[in-house]
This record gives sequence, C-alpha cells and structure tokens, in this order.
Amino acid sequence: MRAPVEAGALRINSERLWGSLMEMAKIGATPKGGVKRLTLTDLDRQSRDLFVSWCKAAGLSVTVDGVGNIFARRRGRNEAAPPVVSGSHLDTQPSGGRFDGCYGVMAALEVVRTLDDHGIETDAPFEIAMWTNEEGSRFLPVMGASGAFAGVHSVDEIREARDVDGVSFGDALDAIGYAGAAPVGGRPLAAYFEAHIEQGPLLENTGNTVGVVTGALGQRWFEVTVTGMDAHAGPTPMHLRRDALLGASFLIQEVNRLGKLTEHSRGTVGMIASRPNSRNVVPGETVFSVDFRDTDVSGLDRMEQGLRAAAGNIAAEHGLGIDMRQTVFFPPCEFDRTCVAAVRAGAERLGYPHMDIVSGAGHDAVYIARVAPAAMIFVPCEGGISHNEIENATPEDLAAGCNVLLQAVLARAG
Ligand code: GLV
Ligand code: MN
Ligand code: MN
Repeated sequence: MRAPVEAGALRINSERLWGSLMEMAKIGATPKGGVKRLTLTDLDRQSRDLFVSWCKAAGLSVTVDGVGNIFARRRGRNEAAPPVVSGSHLDTQPSGGRFDGCYGVMAALEVVRTLDDHGIETDAPFEIAMWTNEEGSRFLPVMGASGAFAGVHSVDEIREARDVDGVSFGDALDAIGYAGAAPVGGRPLAAYFEAHIEQGPLLENTGNTVGVVTGALGQRWFEVTVTGMDAHAGPTPMHLRRDALLGASFLIQEVNRLGKLTEHSRGTVGMIASRPNSRNVVPGETVFSVDFRDTDVSGLDRMEQGLRAAAGNIAAEHGLGIDMRQTVFFPPCEFDRTCVAAVRAGAERLGYPHMDIVSGAGHDAVYIARVAPAAMIFVPCEGGISHNEIENATPEDLAAGCNVLLQAVLARAG
C-alpha cells in the first residue's frame, strides 16, 4: 500500500505539465512560435484527438455533447454525486499563443495524473471539460458552446452560425467528427474551476504568482454595417462620394474614444471587411466588429449610446446608412464566493504570492458560473501579452497555478 499523502503536501508534476503543453503547441504551430488552431478545423480535430488519447490513457471515460464539448470523467467514490469540473479550450486566435485555453485543459489533465500518481480517490467524480469555440474568432458567439451548456444559447443557434466563407458551425463540427450524442448541459456540476494565463500585466507588475479571479468584465459586441455607394476614384468629386470606409474610420475613432472614458472600459475594432476592396473604387460597403467591455452594464450602455449617436451624425453628414447589430452580450460576472475562497486558500496554503483580480478577458467560466459555483485561477504571462504568437509563461508559474487548481479541486471534491 502506498503511504497516504496529506493534501497540502501534494504537488503536480511540472515537467509533465510543460511537456503536454509543448506537445499540444505543435498542432498548428506558427513560424513565430505561436499557434493557429481555429475552432472546428482539421487542426482542432487533431488537438481533440490527442487530448482524448491522453484522457483514455489515464483511464477516463470520454463523452462528447451535441456542440462538441468534450468531458473526460474520473470516477468518484460517490458516482451519484455531481462532478467537480475543470477545463478550458483548445481553439486559438488566428495569431494565437501556446497557453491561452490550452493551459486550462492541460492543467486539469495534470490534476488527474497527479491524483493517479498518488492513488487518491475523491468523493465526487472529477471531469475535465474542453469547450468548443471559446475564441469566437471563426464563429460567433464567443464562448458559444459553454454558453449552450449553460442554456444561454440554443444548440440550433450555435449550429447555424456561419464563418466568413459561409460554412456553418454544424457542418464544420460534423466534418471533424465531434458532434456527440450527449445532451448539451442540463446536468448539475458541484463546482467549476478554470486555470488560465492572465492575458494582462497585473500579476507580473505586482510580483504575484497567482491571480484569484473574483469576476470578469461584461461585454457587448456589435457588427456594424456602413452602406454607401461604389464609385470611380477619379471622376467622382470628393463632395459627391458616399464612402463607407471613410464613415467606418470615424466610427472606429469613436470606439477608441469611448473605450478610454473610464479606467475599466475597453473599446476595440478587431475585424473589418470593405467591399469591393479595390484600389480605385470608393468603397460602397464596410462591415466591422465592435467589442466593448466594462465592469458595469451602465458603462456598456454608455458606450453603446455614444456609438449610436456618433453613427447618426456620421450617417447624416456623409450620406451613409449605418446599421449596428448586437452579436454578443453578457453582463459583468461575479464568481462564487466559496469557490473563490477555495482558490485563495490554495494559494495561501502553498505560499504563493497572490492577489484578487478581475478578468478583462471572457472565459468559459463566465457562462458556467450561471449554472454552477465557479472560479478561476490566473498565472502571469510575459509582458501581459496574449492573443499574440509571442505569448509566453514560465513552467514555474504554470505549475503554481496547477498546484492551486489541485488544492481547489480536492477541497470541493472531497
Ligand atoms: C476571449 O478570448 C476574449 O475575447 O476575451
Ligand atoms: Mn482563453
Ligand atoms: Mn483567447
């Protein structure tokens, strides 16, 4: 018989965690050291296959739901009890890094492997969750499949979303063979923990190793369509033009201005398409995204009102049509106090310098928090840089976050 290990003395295997991350980062690796693994592409399938093979090797039972979320379950002493769940996502941005999302999934797997190393049984079952399309860069809405699990979106709504080439989420999911039979959501979870890199500079700047995440900013996204008229770039006098791209440029300035109104507000235009996109044609139509974030819904409302007012003025002045369609909205989220306390207690127990932090990024945990007690654990990333191929984190910090995750999971799973 193995000697029992006291929970506070348990540590994950840092080299193994780093090894899993680096192995996964080979799938979709980019020349600049990042990862491009857009959701529901063949590269996504490859990362899922590898993850599932590791889960099966660890003796976990794997199920896939109707929007492609994967759950890998480690049995508990009490199989009737709701599971404690931990995970994140394996999809990336087009110019993504090695850790955004992947870290949370690999950290949960490392928790399983560590429990196995020590022959530790938990009362409640433990499940690793891999959520589909967290990034929202190929299909809207962002965090769509965890949103479906939480009942925020219907399965049909998710399956019908289309990418810029007109391919539907449903067809792409079927094509990679990950449309599973399990129902989407509708089952109780005892708790949900998600480990993630911070994606901002606070931990690094303050010398903290662990971010105890108390909540996340609210978000409201729009797709804005500016309609003018195609015209010849030479014979058409300046005062007769209805230039959609010019109108969009004024609105983009406005998004930036609104995003700077308070310390906690953010305004970003990250995606733009102009038609016909020809050098000597005055553009007749421009479509772009707007991403507003704030700690308060009133802040989101203020930015929306500001943008609508500017759109009205710009439309009138330049003879344009401007349509703003909301594509994403969720209010600021506050994580469950007891789960947050379990994360903080884990960091304290292990002696890691830590601070409370509010996430500027959206995460699957934001939606899962609607149906289960949830919290997150952040670790520093170099220069606070993320959604960038140069995204980086140290093996030590990643291990620290994973050790805190292990403590939090044990505290909840018994
Ligand atoms: C998710 O990556 C987000 O946009 O916050
Ligand atoms: Mn992420
Ligand atoms: Mn991301």
